[in-house]
Amino acid sequence: MKRTSSNNRIRLAIQRSGRLSDDSFDLLNRCGIKYRKKTEQLFHHCENFPLDLLLVRDDDIPQLVNQGTCDLGIVGTNVLEEDTLSQRNSKRISVPDLIQALDFGNCRLSIALPNVVNYEGLFSLQNKRIATSYPNILKKFLRDNEITAEIVTLAGSVEIAPRLGIADAICDLVSTGSTLDANNLQEVAEVFISKAVLIKTTSPLNSTQQETTDLFVRRIAGVTHANDSKYIMLHAPKAQLNDIVACLPGAETPTIVTLENDNNKVGVHAVCRESIFWETLERLKACGASSILVLPIEKLLA
Ligand code: PRP
Ligand code: ZN
Repeated sequence: MKRTSSNNRIRLAIQRSGRLSDDSFDLLNRCGIKYRKKTEQLFHHCENFPLDLLLVRDDDIPQLVNQGTCDLGIVGTNVLEEDTLSQRNSKRISVPDLIQALDFGNCRLSIALPNVVNYEGLFSLQNKRIATSYPNILKKFLRDNEITAEIVTLAGSVEIAPRLGIADAICDLVSTGSTLDANNLQEVAEVFISKAVLIKTTSPLNSTQQETTDLFVRRIAGVTHANDSKYIMLHAPKAQLNDIVACLPGAETPTIVTLENDNNKVGVHAVCRESIFWETLERLKACGASSILVLPIEKLLA
C-alpha cells in the first residue's frame, strides 16, 4: 500500500478496536472531521478534510508509520516503546516522530499476580513465568531490577494465562483495573506509564501533505488544550486587581473592561490554561472578586 507522490491526501492509522478506538474517533469528531463509518470497512475516506483513515491493530501502527504506508498514527507510548526496543535488539532502528501528546489513553503496564499469592517485593518474581504482549519492555524492566524470570510472550488474552497454568504472573496494560479484578489478579509493580500520542512518519511528505499535517496538528492541539482550558469572568475591585489576576491559574494577559455605574470595580475576562478548582474560586472571592463565572471552551486556536 505504498503511496504515489501524486496523492496529496494524508493517511492516518488508528486502532480498529480496543482502548484507543472510541477516543480516536471522538478526537476526529472534536476536530470537525467527517467520515462515513461503515462497520467492517478498514479504510475510510474523510469527506471534509484531505485525510484517509486506516483501521488496524494498534501493535502494527509504529511499523506502518515507519515504512511510510501511513503518514500519521495514533498509538499508545507502550506500543511505541515496545517497537523501539524490539528494533534495538535486531540492531535496526527507525522511530517515527512523536508530534503531539493527546488527552486520552492514560494507562500503565503493570505486573500482576493471582490474589491468592503473597507478594513481598520484586524478588517474589524471581524464577517465575510472566506472560505478556510486551516482552521487550518487560525484559528491560527485569534486567534493570536484577530479576531473573521467564517471559511467556502471548499476542492477547494475557490475563487468563495464570488460570490456564501457562504463567505465574502477567505484565499487561491496566486502565480502570476491571480486567484484573475480573480475573482475580492483584497489581504489584508498575513497569511503564503510557498515554496516547500522534506520531508522524520520517519519510518525506510533499508540501501539500505537510500543510495538511500542520493544519491537522493545530486542530488537535486546539481541541486538546480546550479540554482543560476555561474562560473565566469576574468583577474585581480596582485596588485588588493585581492580587486577583495573580490567582488565575495559567492565564494569559486578561482583558479588563469597565463596568457601567461602578467606578470602583472592573470586569476581568481571561482564558485559564489549567483546571480551575473550587479552592481557586474561594481564593478569588477572598481577594474581593465577585460575580465569578467559569465557562468551558469548545475550541481554541492560539
Ligand atoms: C488492554 C489490556 C486489558 C485492558 C485493561 O487492552 O490488554 O485487556 O486494556 O483495561 P482495564 O484495566 O480498564 O480493564 P487493549 O484495549 O490495549 O487491547 P490490546 O491489548 O488488544 O491492544
Ligand atoms: Zn494491542
